[in-house]
Amino acid sequence: MKFFIDTANLQQIKEAQDLGVLDGVTTNPSLMAKEGITGKENIINHYKAICDIVEGDVSAEVIATDYESIIKEGEALAKLNDKIVVKAPMIKDGIKAIKYFSSNGIKTNCTLVFSSGQALLAAKAGATYVSPFIGRLDDISTDGLSLIEDIRLIYDNYGYETQILAASIRHVIHIIECAKIGADVMTGPLSAILGLLKHPLTDSGLAQFLADHAKASGK
Ligand code: E4P
Repeated sequence: MKFFIDTANLQQIKEAQDLGVLDGVTTNPSLMAKEGITGKENIINHYKAICDIVEGDVSAEVIATDYESIIKEGEALAKLNDKIVVKAPMIKDGIKAIKYFSSNGIKTNCTLVFSSGQALLAAKAGATYVSPFIGRLDDISTDGLSLIEDIRLIYDNYGYETQILAASIRHVIHIIECAKIGADVMTGPLSAILGLLKHPLTDSGLAQFLADHAKASGK
């Protein structure tokens, strides 16, 4: 399973990269705004800075919502770095643009996916990644994980190569359950990634080992 971090915060991206388990980054306009990144030039420079930190794919989301403008914006983003994946929304013009990008060798991430029908369409358009938002489905009392299961089944039935990028991950259980189902990628906050480290028996076991060692060494 690939691990992406879902943030535009450079410090957090560095911390995850330093851990040695990071495969990529996803951003969105809200995450960029949260870091105070506004204006075309600053946004472009920020994507470049992210690409300098990580080795894997970096999703950069278009703001445009009509076909011609999505193509123009997406092509400009893709030219920044080979790591850039053009993130386009699950709307009619977004799907048409994903088809265009996939036919022209540009990696894509179809975002804001909330149903298996939408995921099927993204795969047929040739998306590199599809992003079902499981946390946001859970937020409205719908089972986000069962959507991942449905998409896995559909993609395996037909051998679609679109990678399931489980997005809107909130916590460790989401990551574990997505791994059990067979999501190709998960994108989540640094807290969820670091949460995988934690177990009280690890903490108490380590404390005991160190105490026994100190005692035996006469310290
Ligand atoms: C995915 O690419 C999105 O950036 C993201 O996972 C959205 O998550 P949220 O629901 O926590 O905003």
